[in-house]
Amino acid sequence: MARRSLVVVANRLPVDHTVEEDGSITWSRSPGGLVSALHPVLRDRHGTWIGWSGAIDSAPYVPDMDGIRMRSVPLSSAEYEDYYEGYSNGTLWPLYHDAVETPAFHRRWWEAYQRVNRRFAQATADYAERNAMVWIQDYHLQLVPAMLRALRPDLRIGFFMHIPFPPAELFMQLPRRVELLRGMLGADLVGFQTNAGADNFVRIACRLLDVRATPNASGGGGCIEVDGRTVSVGAFPISIDVAEMESLARRPDVVERAANLRADLGDPAKVILGVDRLDYTKGIEHRIKAFRELLVDGRVKVEETVMVQVAVPSRERVEHYKVLRDKVEREVGRINGEFGRVGVPVVHYLNQSFDRAEIAALYLASDVLTVTALRDGMNLVAKEYIAARTDNGGALVLSEFTGAAAELTDAHLVNPHDLDGLKDAIVHALEAPPAENRARMRAMRRHVRTHDVRAWARSYLRALGGGPASAKAPS
Ligand code: G6P
Repeated sequence: MARRSLVVVANRLPVDHTVEEDGSITWSRSPGGLVSALHPVLRDRHGTWIGWSGAIDSAPYVPDMDGIRMRSVPLSSAEYEDYYEGYSNGTLWPLYHDAVETPAFHRRWWEAYQRVNRRFAQATADYAERNAMVWIQDYHLQLVPAMLRALRPDLRIGFFMHIPFPPAELFMQLPRRVELLRGMLGADLVGFQTNAGADNFVRIACRLLDVRATPNASGGGGCIEVDGRTVSVGAFPISIDVAEMESLARRPDVVERAANLRADLGDPAKVILGVDRLDYTKGIEHRIKAFRELLVDGRVKVEETVMVQVAVPSRERVEHYKVLRDKVEREVGRINGEFGRVGVPVVHYLNQSFDRAEIAALYLASDVLTVTALRDGMNLVAKEYIAARTDNGGALVLSEFTGAAAELTDAHLVNPHDLDGLKDAIVHALEAPPAENRARMRAMRRHVRTHDVRAWARSYLRALGGGPASAKAPS
């Protein structure tokens, strides 16, 4: 049988646009991430990517790129508010992240979510070739698998959740929980970042629907019998393009930039780094508070140590994000007011996006990367940092509540709610004998290099494509 063609469906198309001087728009493939993982398979299989272009109230034509067909799904400004900012990022995002901020439930948001999911399903049904393999991504599109199956029963349908999948106690709060669950069960294979997420899903399905499940012997998920079909459920921890990050970090201009960054910071003995989207799930305030207390206690010396916090702007019109920004900026102002000197702040706060070369230089310029997320599906920044440290230098302080912690057991693992524990972990990472940090980094690099994003995509697609799909985490 001919190889099935592949269609990826995600809220966003993997493209960036630039407005030229004459007002025309040029499109380029966005760097890194999912698209580089899927690029070879998409190219070989005449692949298509279906998603939103980022434009509101217009449906720009997005050209095919590097052999991948791009098909854009339009969003109106009301849908941007109700489907994207509302249901996706005001209901599902906080609920699935342990409700660290209170999720809101509005019927108008749910209606828009259904409408936009239907549009994605219809666009996919229109574009997918016969018997194609369709891979639907993330929490924005949980209804698409079942909607698509109803339209196109010939397709092989996969769904992957990039963010955590919560325990029943939280999921049960959703007013339309059964519809969401049934939506995902329209897939042949439902993938999660961790065994815990896969197990939550199976347990919730058994509790809410009249279905039978057989657990996976290897742990994490299992098989669910529903409507006379078998849905496989498993863990497939995502990763990054390790080769790309390694070659960036070896580029002479990046190495030079890292040295210049350190000089610009005043050649401190130690640099502590944080790189996050400015999101309340990332625990940015927790790490700034820990740093401040370390300065107050005198365990970290102002003259020796600086913190650099990159906080990439995100979802800026959503209320929780505005509140967070104010909180973080107040804390940064407070700590610099107390401990900074003229021309020498102790926390360098950058509320901007940077290109990948600059991020790689920051990774190289730092002694410790702090990842203190309160809940995170995976946390790819942690994996990028490890990939960048081809010198086996640096140290990683990593929250237990990230998907990455299940794999990166050689990090300095912390519970970010335990301020004393977090302070101790930062001090330990700063002061551990170099041999200890190097051994930890070497072990983590070994893991990340053999579990890169291509291995992730391969293992998922193999499980989706093969006869009776077997969902198993890559070993
Ligand atoms: C998370 C989600 C992605 C999302 C990204 C950026 O990683 O899992 O689906 O694209 O955040 O958020 P944004 O709202 O800007 O797409």
